[in-house]
Amino acid sequence: MGFNLAILISGNGSNMLNILDACEKNILSSNVKVVITNNKNSKGIQAAKKKTKVCVINEIEMTKFEAELNKILITEKVNFICLAGFMKMLSKKFVNNWDKKIINIHPSLLPSFPGLNPVKQALDKGVKYTGCTIHFVDEGMDTGQIIDQRVIKVKRKISLEKLTKKILKEEHFLFIKVLLYLEKEFLNDKN
Ligand code: GRF
Repeated sequence: MGFNLAILISGNGSNMLNILDACEKNILSSNVKVVITNNKNSKGIQAAKKKTKVCVINEIEMTKFEAELNKILITEKVNFICLAGFMKMLSKKFVNNWDKKIINIHPSLLPSFPGLNPVKQALDKGVKYTGCTIHFVDEGMDTGQIIDQRVIKVKRKISLEKLTKKILKEEHFLFIKVLLYLEKEFLNDKN
């Protein structure tokens, strides 16, 4: 058995739906116990509701948000958290409690272009290669230890929209690859 996962999202949720799908098809042995969003208008939530529990946390203030979050994680017996387009910064206290148990996906080759609009930042700089990164989450903004990356070549004059789509496709692949790897590590640790 893999992880009891929580997936945190703020936006479209395509990575979240991709993980749910991989669990459903037994590509992953984890179980998505709950999808949590800070944005009740997140796309993908309706689709997620058909497959798992979905919680919306409306609190803007971080201490209150995390108190609510902790309650849900305990109730659902979550032991691993995926941030998939989750746009809030978690507190130092929270991430320290979950050391090496929270991962985040970011659409650039970190440590280049952390923070907001990374695809645009990369295009504006004229990079020839970009990609996506999955890293453990620490208190910084996209600064945690890198687990894995996918690289793509940036074609001349490619639009922001096209490049974003191309990266997202790689993200979907990478998320499952990394979770498969971490599931194995988790099983090894238990045995
Ligand atoms: C992805 O590009 C992810 O790397 C970034 O936010 C986007 C989320 O996409 N952190 P989606 O909501 O999974 O479609």
